[in-house]
Amino acid sequence: MFAAFAIVVVALVSQTAARYSADWASLDARPLPPWYDEAKVGVFVHWGVFSVPGFGSEWFWWHWQGQQPPEQKCVSYMSKNYPPGFSYPEFAPRFHAEFFAPEDWADVFKASGAKYVVLTAKHHEGFTNWGSPYSWNWNSEDTGPHRDLVGDLGEAVRNRSLHYGLYNSLYEWFHPLYLADKKNGFQTQKFVMHKLLPELYNMVVRYRPEVIWSDGDWEAPDTYWNSTEFLAWLYNDSPVKDTVVTNDRWGAGCACKHGGYYNCEDKYTPGQLPQHKWEKCTSVDTLSWGYRRNMKLSELMDLPAIIEDLVGTVALGGNYLLNVGPTPEGMIPAVFEERLRGVGAWLKLNGEAIYASKPWRVQAENTTVPVWYTSKGNAVYAIMTARPPRVTLQLLAPKTSAATKVTLLGNSNPLPWAPVQPSAGLTVLLPELPSSSGQAWTLKLDGIQ
Ligand SMILES: *[C@@H]1O[C@H](CO)[C@@H](O)[C@H](O)[C@H]1NC(C)=O
Ligand SMILES: *[C@@H]1O[C@H](CO)[C@@H](O)[C@H](O)[C@H]1NC(C)=O
Ligand SMILES: *[C@@H]1O[C@H](CO)[C@@H](O)[C@H](O)[C@H]1NC(C)=O
Repeated sequence: MFAAFAIVVVALVSQTAARYSADWASLDARPLPPWYDEAKVGVFVHWGVFSVPGFGSEWFWWHWQGQQPPEQKCVSYMSKNYPPGFSYPEFAPRFHAEFFAPEDWADVFKASGAKYVVLTAKHHEGFTNWGSPYSWNWNSEDTGPHRDLVGDLGEAVRNRSLHYGLYNSLYEWFHPLYLADKKNGFQTQKFVMHKLLPELYNMVVRYRPEVIWSDGDWEAPDTYWNSTEFLAWLYNDSPVKDTVVTNDRWGAGCACKHGGYYNCEDKYTPGQLPQHKWEKCTSVDTLSWGYRRNMKLSELMDLPAIIEDLVGTVALGGNYLLNVGPTPEGMIPAVFEERLRGVGAWLKLNGEAIYASKPWRVQAENTTVPVWYTSKGNAVYAIMTARPPRVTLQLLAPKTSAATKVTLLGNSNPLPWAPVQPSAGLTVLLPELPSSSGQAWTLKLDGIQ
């Protein structure tokens, strides 16, 4: 009797404790669902009508016809190559996605070693990659591919046990209701009440995304977007309340301050260990997130640069979200696929030092070559992001003992080592380092402090 009563009380308490109110103090206190920190690596996919011009970046429409003055490069590109009066929405019927094979994409993402995938459900242009009832004739089912891109990719991604997330832009450059609210100094919420929120709730219920990667928040305060009310619903009552994570783009001034994990700014790279869970998003194409038909190899990150960036991010407690931009035909450009598979090959050997790792006492040192540290349980991992010039590697941060054991991941033989000082630092005699994809090698250190 008493036991049953106690269980009821516990159930009530935990249920009460789990409810969040629509204010930042409450929402910010929500613990991040653990899958996200353990995942460490994700693939970001920018795909939309902007992939059709594939010129400049996914901001093409804004650079061409939004900002004042417009970007001359975009204006002359259009006047040289398209008939006079051609409008941006006319690109949509040319978004065919005729080669889109979600299973193939998901195979590539799986092979990259990523544990989650985030697709643009709607970028700033407002086009939804699903049949949003709030985006009439400006969505991928009414026009263009005539297909539920969000749903089809989600099924394939989840089938490979990857988490599925959706990017959603709060603002839409040219939506008439948004422009009206903007003109009213965001004192009215016509766009939010009639477009944004109904669509966002619908999207969550329909696709159950486990990441909501919010963006396009910065022109208006979170009170305009009703962000805290939406997040309270998301965390309390939505179908993904227990597993969903979000970022920090929920209104002007929120970045790096409120929400779930922090993105701060695009490609944010902190100098030291942040106090809050964060994610670095970056793009293989250094000049764009969306596909560019005129991209050059020299403008892309090479594999060693990606691996070094990934390792540095994880050592500082971050997740690494690496972007690729598919073509309007639905292909992942082969060079992006090669990069993703390269990351996966590296992770296959070195993933023990990455997945579910924690930052160590020291995050980096550069005695022989640049080394980043991670840890898991009692093990510490020292990841060299350059090939040492000699057969020995010196590490000064670890404190050794008689029990210290050093191995190279991928090779079970213990490596000879000697202390630098009686209990601080060690010199390791390295085996021949395989010419690893990614030019980075991991030493596993057991029995150190
Ligand atoms: C993926 O799909 C296959 C074939 O339909 C099915 O057998 C398998 O259980 C699915 N895997 C997951 C993780 O959903
Ligand atoms: C938006 O927020 C206001 C309070 O700020 C609240 O009264 C209203 O119900 C909210 N609407 C939605 C759809 O969340
Ligand atoms: C590591 O040290 C070398 C030699 O002093 C220097 O050239 C290099 O920039 C340093 N790298 C980092 C990541 O600090």
